[in-house]
Amino acid sequence: MATWSAPGKVILFGEHSVVYGKPAIAMAIKPRVQVTVRHSRYYQKPNSPYISECFRLTDVKGSVYVRSQLPSASGLGSSAAVTVATLFAINDEFELGYTREEVGDLAFEVEKATQGGRASATDTYVSTFGGLVFIRGSEKRRLLPPQNLSIVIGNSLISHNTAEMVEKVAELRRTSPVIANGIMDAIGGVTMEAMHNLENPKELGVLMNRNHALLDALGVGHPVLSQLVLAARNAGAYGAKLSGAGGGGCIWALCSKGSRNRVAGAIEDCDARPITTSIDTEGARRE
Ligand code: MEV
Repeated sequence: MATWSAPGKVILFGEHSVVYGKPAIAMAIKPRVQVTVRHSRYYQKPNSPYISECFRLTDVKGSVYVRSQLPSASGLGSSAAVTVATLFAINDEFELGYTREEVGDLAFEVEKATQGGRASATDTYVSTFGGLVFIRGSEKRRLLPPQNLSIVIGNSLISHNTAEMVEKVAELRRTSPVIANGIMDAIGGVTMEAMHNLENPKELGVLMNRNHALLDALGVGHPVLSQLVLAARNAGAYGAKLSGAGGGGCIWALCSKGSRNRVAGAIEDCDARPITTSIDTEGARRE
């Protein structure tokens, strides 16, 4: 029997423009997902298509047990965390001998196969390696020195569809290329500034607010996300912005240790679900 866990993720800066080659920053966060895999001749088809695909791709048979406090379909990378933890547990239980990098690559293959060819390698990379990750374009990812950012996530509980939001931006690029490209360039600039201000929460907060406004201008905002962002700022956050595809899902707020509870309370007052968290520097690990 092997049990492995993997962290969720939050996109800090640069969502959407990263699809067009601009930089982005993502971070691994708690809560983690835990998966236990047991060698078994009696293979019961798992409920999750991601887990089924992990077993299919590695060509092994076993039973699986998942514990997750990561909300699904909220942009916090829960499918990637489940996939990564399952593959590491399979690799361990069946002694397949894959390296960490190889398991990370396999996890991306599982996500692609399960999501009809469209997946972001960022989610599986962050879950595999943990920490703070810089992304440029679709292929290049590298770990940044970890930062102790104190954050509160606000889950709007409004479901959203990443593919639809990505298509919405593509449509704006087709109809109004000058506007769309101008906004993307600005988001790229904000992200690079953020890279150089990761230790300066006040400045980072200002940059978050700018990034949020630019995402709104790109058409991926939602009235409830704006409400959450304003509530978090009014409660004392340095800054707040939507995270991920938008149109629903989550926001994240950068807080001082002293303002965290107030910000979480303000999010709750908006009938959304707060998650108080910080960086998880460990990627997938054996439990
Ligand atoms: C979705 O979590 C992030 C997007 O930038 C899409 C992607 O990078 O694949 C909107």
